[in-house]
Amino acid sequence: MTADAGQPSVRGTAPDLFNKFQPLIDQRAALLAGGITDPFNLVMERVESPTVAICNGRRTILLGTYNYMGMTFDPDVIAAGKRALDEFGSGTTGSRVLNGTYQGHRECEDALREFYAMDHAMVFSTGYQANLGIISTMAGKDDYVVLDIDSHASIYDGCALGNAQIVPFRHNDVDALEKRLKRLPAEAGKLVVLEGVYSMLGDIAPLKEMVAVSKAAGAMVLVDEAHSMGFIGEHGRGVAEAQGVIDDVDFIIGTFSKSVGTVGGFCVSNHPKFEILRLVCRPYVFTASLPPSVVATAATSIAKLMSGGAKRTHLLENSKRLHGGLKDLGFKLGTDEPQSAIIAVIMPDLERGAAMWEALLHEGLYVNLARPPATPQGMTLLRCSLCAEHSTEQVGEILGMFEAAGRKVGVI
Ligand SMILES: Cc1ncc(COP(=O)(O)O)c(C=O)c1O
Repeated sequence: MTADAGQPSVRGTAPDLFNKFQPLIDQRAALLAGGITDPFNLVMERVESPTVAICNGRRTILLGTYNYMGMTFDPDVIAAGKRALDEFGSGTTGSRVLNGTYQGHRECEDALREFYAMDHAMVFSTGYQANLGIISTMAGKDDYVVLDIDSHASIYDGCALGNAQIVPFRHNDVDALEKRLKRLPAEAGKLVVLEGVYSMLGDIAPLKEMVAVSKAAGAMVLVDEAHSMGFIGEHGRGVAEAQGVIDDVDFIIGTFSKSVGTVGGFCVSNHPKFEILRLVCRPYVFTASLPPSVVATAATSIAKLMSGGAKRTHLLENSKRLHGGLKDLGFKLGTDEPQSAIIAVIMPDLERGAAMWEALLHEGLYVNLARPPATPQGMTLLRCSLCAEHSTEQVGEILGMFEAAGRKVGVI
């Protein structure tokens, strides 16, 4: 294209579109200038098991993965993946609605239907896309999405994509939810979106009460059980199962990137019209389907999670042991009691949070450093997520590392 000599050039006057990130660029530079390891750029050089990796050349206990049920190294899961790779190749190169539905995708959806004892299951390429797809497709411009203010980014992005009216309510506050619902026009379409476990503090939602007030207001209910699937509930179906309301929930969203131990997302439902979503849900239609090896590992893992009772019991014991131990050491925690596999250790500020994160890494422990905007109320957290494969001895080791690092940094 040739330049139009008659038009004044805008070059040089238009702002650099990166300018809006300057405060973050400055904050990050200041943090790294202090000589701290970049907490958001750690490389796992080798992964030995669900609980141990080699980072910076040294053995590191992993306490910051979403590998709640430790399925990533399960021999049956790995064998299924290898078999699918050999028999079906490395990828589908197509959308689910064209050439991207293989036998394995069907089997994976069958495994989900069986796991949840529900009529319908739809697999997406990630959990993020499952929320994006279901929320944007179900709630359009004139509909309302009533959501907990601490909802995951994928939930907010789903509302934005569908252009729905967003009505947030205070975190885990049943009365606030009910008040918001009562203010909405009776004839308007309403979707209430909740999470079973909130990933930053590891607290669970009062789903029983929330589902009841939502249904009384005529709303449909979606529950994201990303952080509870596999672990919470008698069959590992999540908080809705544990609180006895799973049959009243219209959509359950989940992910394969946590307890299932691979990548992918899904929605299960008993709604009789559910299958139409396969034709109208853009994040399902307009993207390639998961590789055959991934759906094979997911299906095998999901089937094994159905008999994961012993692992669930051990994970619960680990959670109690770590929560109690950290509390005894004097750390401030996100919840008074352990509620899930996530235990959040609240840091006084980002600087000390980053220093503590690094001190733990030197001790041989990896946790997640979480900070705003991902965290509620501007908090900096060290998020610990336990795995069913952590041994009792490892939990003891972890507590010793927290004590040493906490004293070094001066947070206890
Ligand atoms: C509550 C919640 N929903 C959805 C997702 C997205 O899952 P995925 O990693 O499969 O995209 C996450 C991931 O962190 C999550 O925490």
